[in-house]
Formats: sequence, C-alpha cells, structure tokens
Amino acid sequence: MSIDKKTLSIAIMSGKGGVGKTNIALNLAYALYDLKNSAILMDCDLGLANLDVLLGVTPEKNLQDLLDPDLQARDIVISLEDSRLDFLPAATGVPELANWDSDIQSILLEKLNDFFHNYDYLLLDLEAGIGNTVTILGAMARLKCVVITPEPTSLTDSYALIKILSSQRGIRDFLIIVNMVKTRREGELAFERLQRACRHFLGIEIALLGIILRDSAVSKAVLSQTPLCKLEPESMAYRNIKEIALKINKLDTDVLSTDSALDMDMLNLDIHLGH
Ligand SMILES: Nc1ncnc2c1ncn2[C@@H]1O[C@H](COP(=O)(O)OP(=O)(O)OP(=O)(O)O)[C@@H](O)[C@H]1O
Ligand SMILES: [Mg+2]
Repeated sequence: MSIDKKTLSIAIMSGKGGVGKTNIALNLAYALYDLKNSAILMDCDLGLANLDVLLGVTPEKNLQDLLDPDLQARDIVISLEDSRLDFLPAATGVPELANWDSDIQSILLEKLNDFFHNYDYLLLDLEAGIGNTVTILGAMARLKCVVITPEPTSLTDSYALIKILSSQRGIRDFLIIVNMVKTRREGELAFERLQRACRHFLGIEIALLGIILRDSAVSKAVLSQTPLCKLEPESMAYRNIKEIALKINKLDTDVLSTDSALDMDMLNLDIHLGH
C-alpha cells in the first residue's frame, strides 16, 4: 500500500440513541471490504463502547493504550479479515478520553491519522447526541452520515445535531440514512420531513444516502454477537446496507478525500470562531 494513498473517512452519527449506528458502521465496513476495499472500523463511542460486543471479540488493548509512547496503532488494532478489514477498539470509563482533553486529542490523532492512510475507508462509530466526541471527531470526517428513524423524537434530535454541527463547525453537507422503516416510502417521508426543516430553518440541503428496512435479522445478529453480514448475508437489512456501500464506493474519492483522513483543522476551529 502506498503511503500517499487517500482515505475516505465516514462518521456515523445520530441525534437520538439506539437508532442502529453501530450495526450500520459495522456492516458497512464489511460491505465496503467485500467491494475489494480495505477499511478500518473505529469505535468512537467513548462512553459506552460496544462494537467489540457486536463483533464478538475481546480486545486486549484499546484507544487508551495509544497514550503509551511505546505503543502504536498497529499494536492495538484487531484484524477482522486478512488485515484489510481492521477494528480499533475504544476505551470506556476514561473521562480524559471521553472529554477529549486537548493534549490527549493531539497525541491520539497524530498517531492515528498517519496510520489511517493504510486504508481506503475509515468508519467512525460515534456516540449518540451532541457531546464533544461527536462535534470534534464527527466534524473531522469527510462524510458526515446522520442515522435517523421515522420516530418524531429521532427527527427532532437529528435536526438538533445538524443545527449544532452547522452553527459550531460550519458543516453543511450531511448524508442521511433512514433505518428501521416498514417500507421505503416511510423512509422517504421521514427524510423529506427532516429535509424541509433543515432547508427552511437552517438553509441546509441534506441528501438521502439510503434506507434500511426494519428486519428481525439485525437483532438476531446482535444476540448471537455475529455481524449481520456473516449470519444473514441475504437479509433485507444487509442488502440495504450493501446498496449504501455501493453508492459510497461510486463517489469520486479523489475529489472527496483530503490529504489526511481526519481534517486536523477542525481541532483548532474553536479558536478560528473565537469561542
Ligand atoms: N434495521 C434494523 N431492523 C431491526 N432492528 C434494528 C435495525 N437496526 C438496529 N436495530 C436494533 O436496534 C438496536 C440498537 O442498534 P445499535 O446498537 O446499532 O444502535 P446505536 O445507534 O449504535 O445505539 P447507541 O446510540 O446506544 O450507540 C439493535 O440492538 C438492534 O436490535
Ligand atoms: Mg452504538
């Protein structure tokens, strides 16, 4: 792999919790890998990390160990598929990390950003809501995906997330995934409702990235701690996720990718904005 290769980073966020972010990030990483890409899946939920649980792996080391000067990212990642699909576990219960203390931010992100260049895609599974990790890491990713469900609370909370990221970080390009719908039409209607609010009140045009049907295969996969793509590759939900991966794979990565996987300028944005 060449060192100057570009990496497309994708943040998976949501206003409301429990809308399917972790399952989507995980299966999207596998779907992109199946399309002959390399990918790294990073658990950024520093409050309640659970990608390891869904993957059925027990990490020996995690993000916190990167603070040890002798350890590098490659010492921490877990290979899921022949070193072209890797997993970077999060630390939980570490307040310095969860609050993204600024010294820690630069130590970690410097180590990570170089390492991320080994992959075509970086998927960030973020925590729900509008905490520091989301406004910092989410803003640093090139594609910002917001997962919603048709529930009114999910719509209002995702609107709040978009509003905060746009006002605090100047972000205007959001991709929406509607999850857990009975029909595609229900998904389109939910997207249109959010689209109207963002257009009318924020002057922002959001885009629909994909719709995932409610499918009992997802909870089966969670219960058996086996990725959906392994347990039920023909399930409707995984087919929907594969459609999203195909769409992402078709994007012009040369245009989209920046030189570093994560946009380090976003770290200093508070200063630029005078906060
Ligand atoms: N398409 C789907 N069909 C049916 N159930 C789903 C679907 N997507 C997610 N779920 C269910 O929703 C639950 C929550 O999913 P997941 O943990 O991925 O959400 P999350 O957004 O990451 O939650 P958190 O905000 O707590 O991190 C899962 O346990 C699963 O049972
Ligand atoms: Mg989650």
